[in-house]
Amino acid sequence: MDEAIARAGRLLAGADEVLAFVGSGLSAESGVPTFRGEDGLFSDPEVAELARRETLEREPERVLSWFEEGRRRMREVDPNPGHYALARLADRVELTVATQNVDGLLERAAETEGVEFDVHHVHGSLFDVVCGDCGRQADPDVDLAETPTCEACGGMLRPDVVLFGEMLPRATFDAAESAAGRADVCLLIGTSGIVYPAAGLPRQAGETGAELVEINPRESELSGICDVVIRRNAGEAMPAVEEAFG
Ligand code: OAD
Repeated sequence: MDEAIARAGRLLAGADEVLAFVGSGLSAESGVPTFRGEDGLFSDPEVAELARRETLEREPERVLSWFEEGRRRMREVDPNPGHYALARLADRVELTVATQNVDGLLERAAETEGVEFDVHHVHGSLFDVVCGDCGRQADPDVDLAETPTCEACGGMLRPDVVLFGEMLPRATFDAAESAAGRADVCLLIGTSGIVYPAAGLPRQAGETGAELVEINPRESELSGICDVVIRRNAGEAMPAVEEAFG
């Protein structure tokens, strides 16, 4: 067995609380594109522009149609072995997840596995819909392409995701920070670690005593602070780490 995987298994076996800090690489093997890199979503300048708050304000129909199309495509993909193995960790340790992903795939894997754990969506969720004016939750099944409005105040409905130029959800981020402070081990799975304040979570976990384990086929901005680095895809590495756990 790969020594890094064996070490990760030992660290998890000795941990009381584990924080998994997750990025789009975890969903890559489900066919969901990552953001950066050659095939990343942001290699298309139009997509990078659509993910900005000012574009939503200026051209709501265009942005909301793009999100509706994203929701449609996301419903067609399935969790991969990395999602399932991560979810199953909750059977063995006190697991909390801070995810930057908005795709809901980990939650679907958890449901299939019959496990429950806290998932803090620091960048929101594509399948929650809120009013952009009053903030009320709305029917998640509305068709965003039809630019629906809020029943309470008439404001424009939108997906509950964080766009560039917007703040992170405060209470969610606070909960993720407190999980980072409690963690004995922090798994960094499939993230470039470029985007702050989210990328501050594993840093904080490390500063408060957690061992940091990175699972990523490529070097990230956070590789340098990690105690264990597994240079493999999450869909392969997570089941292997689970096996090493014993
Ligand atoms: P990035 O596209 O920045 O990074 C994806 C990471 O996943 C890279 O480090 C890849 O090497 C790694 N990766 C690719 N395939 C993988 C695999 N099969 N297994 C494991 N890792 C793999 O995506 P994020 O780090 O998720 O924010 O990006 C962070 C934030 O940037 C996103 O949440 C989004 C974006 O701006 C908002 O939308 C607010």
